[in-house]
Amino acid sequence: SFEAKVDSILSLMTLDEKIGQLNLPSAGQFTTGQATNSDIGGKIEKGLVGALFNIKSVKNINEIQKIAVEKSRLKIPLIFGMDVIHGYETTFPIPLGLSCSWNMPLIEKTARIAAIEASADGINWTFSPMVDISRDPRWGRVSEGSGEDPYLGSEIAKSMVLGYQGNNLNSNNTIMSCVKHFALYGAPEAGRDYNTVDMSKIRMYNEYLPPYKAAVDAGVGSVMASFNEIDGVPATGNKWLLTDLLRNQWKFNGFVVTDYTGINEMIEHGMGDLQTVSALALNAGTDMDMVGEGFLTTLKKSFEEGNVSIEQIDAAVKRILTAKNKLGLFEDPYKYCDENRAKTEIYTSENRKFSREVAAESMVLLKNNDQLLPLKKSGTIALIGPLADAKENMAGTWSVATKQDQSISVLDGIKKIAGDNAKILYAKGSNLDHDAEFEKIATMFGKELNRDTRTAKQLLDEALKIASKADVIVATLGESAEMSGESTSRTTIEIPQAQKDLLQALIKTGKPVVLVLFTGRPLVLTEENNTVNSILNVWFPGSEAGLAISDVLFGAVNPSGKLTATFPRSVGQIPIFYNHKNTGRPLVNSEGKFEKFRSNYIDERNEPLFPFGFGLSYTTFNYEDLKLSTSKISKNETIDVSVTVKNTGNYDGKEIVQLYIRDLVGSVTRPVKELKGFQKIALKKGETKTVNFKITVEDLKFYNSNLDFVAEPGKFEIFVGTNSVSNLKSEFELIN
Ligand code: IFM
Repeated sequence: SFEAKVDSILSLMTLDEKIGQLNLPSAGQFTTGQATNSDIGGKIEKGLVGALFNIKSVKNINEIQKIAVEKSRLKIPLIFGMDVIHGYETTFPIPLGLSCSWNMPLIEKTARIAAIEASADGINWTFSPMVDISRDPRWGRVSEGSGEDPYLGSEIAKSMVLGYQGNNLNSNNTIMSCVKHFALYGAPEAGRDYNTVDMSKIRMYNEYLPPYKAAVDAGVGSVMASFNEIDGVPATGNKWLLTDLLRNQWKFNGFVVTDYTGINEMIEHGMGDLQTVSALALNAGTDMDMVGEGFLTTLKKSFEEGNVSIEQIDAAVKRILTAKNKLGLFEDPYKYCDENRAKTEIYTSENRKFSREVAAESMVLLKNNDQLLPLKKSGTIALIGPLADAKENMAGTWSVATKQDQSISVLDGIKKIAGDNAKILYAKGSNLDHDAEFEKIATMFGKELNRDTRTAKQLLDEALKIASKADVIVATLGESAEMSGESTSRTTIEIPQAQKDLLQALIKTGKPVVLVLFTGRPLVLTEENNTVNSILNVWFPGSEAGLAISDVLFGAVNPSGKLTATFPRSVGQIPIFYNHKNTGRPLVNSEGKFEKFRSNYIDERNEPLFPFGFGLSYTTFNYEDLKLSTSKISKNETIDVSVTVKNTGNYDGKEIVQLYIRDLVGSVTRPVKELKGFQKIALKKGETKTVNFKITVEDLKFYNSNLDFVAEPGKFEIFVGTNSVSNLKSEFELIN
């Protein structure tokens, strides 16, 4: 058995070699501005490396693997990791965009394709999915997750893990997944990256932990500890988190890796010197040390001083060897190094075609007055904005393997799709931001390769000139790729000022304006929503951006994405999310008016600009006939719920039918709404479908004050509809 094999390998290993298996250096190929490791080849030869990341290509990986299996004493193969986050060379929309498709088979297939491409290039481990729930769009990493909802987030977590890993890791085109960042990384105070997290256990269990657990239940091979603290102890050194919860309660049997220098950072957290924090991490349940070499340089001493046991070291080594075995690396260390696959399976036209389809399905139509969209392929279209001809901004954050120079820009896409029939005029209109702002935040726009040296006035004049000749203006504006992602927290979450100024000038022309919005986070769009005719939020759509955007703009694809994160009216409303509690002084039917001594603001409404689950279509859907099979259930019964949805508009379309519940009375307070089901259906123009859901007692359960997962008898409301606000409503009772 493999157990016996692991034991026999372990018995041959020196303490240094054991500790070496726990070491994960970065090869540095894709590391910008962060610490990297030295003499990696030498360390591999001495058996001091267990896995390596930030390296790509069969040739490079083959070469390094060779050192491990031919030159190191025990010939133990290495795992090769990488941040394959939303596709590999074929890049899909950023994860937040992807989540807006609410389409699980589609999402799973993106991970499948990413796994095929990455494994064809030598990689067998990805640091994905990122499943951190976040309710704070100031935090730049909302772009990497699936939004604010634990139920939807769990479904997506599961789909991604299955997509990467398949049913097992035997095949050479599946890769090991690593769910991150465990845990609660999406809830930093004030939305500032890496900041303190402080949260009640009941909130953790009910609202933030479910997606990590879903990934574990789906068999994820590894877990990445987060940078933040939990109950005062950084995740990397948190025994309650990594051992009591993850291994003992959730039965996770893979390995835990730190985030980049996560162990070393515990020194700054104030947990002790490198030796102390390294021992703390190991004893807490961390198995692998990313980049920091705390394990490599101090664990032996800690062992000699009696602060870590050989059992603890052996347990970590066993988990890593077991992962290598699952990946089939002992049988064939070069299993993922197939030049032929590298040539034929990466960035294929078929994968790119799929990327185009996915991208169109992730876009969210936020406004469409007078049905300005879809556009006709005729007349004159003025395409204006700094993101219109900006290949480098199409893929968005964490797309290390993307082929940036081959990305399809909006200008390329529109010309290709409509250029034969319509006249397409283009002007940049403005830089990403004004020069003064740019100076302040130059790193953010590091990729504005073609920053225009003309003055703002010159750029604007050129834009106004083409606008005056146009029938419609397509303003392509928003965040650049660097403005969201890791370490990009913002205190204002609006379109940068230079672009806002441009937009206002375009609106003044009186021509109809479509805003094609690029963003990695919910933005405050209050002003734009009051002024432009249509807003199509395209996130960062990936490799085929321009084609996918044109598919939607010209109606080849009817948009069907729905928001998975609330768009606030103002930054002061943050955190704002649909599944909040009622409070003892809720604001009821105030129609936007302030009410003294109620929970509201004197200067802003409570409602968001665009709620969770919201997204328009070129057609309209009507909901009626919400029916429940019974109005009372006992604990082992189910309720059948049905609703009739009719396509009442002029286009075929897809609709995401959403089901929410509200538990009206509990031993602890319950959210005003919780998503418990959804279905994405296609309806032809005029077509009607009945959509069925089942509610079981499992859907009614929550963690109570003792952290027991229970369903409590009593009344529940049930809502079915097109978003988290507009719903048909009914009720039922859970009886003893
Ligand atoms: O996987 C990432 C993580 O999300 C942030 N820090 C670096 C890791 C490895 O690149």
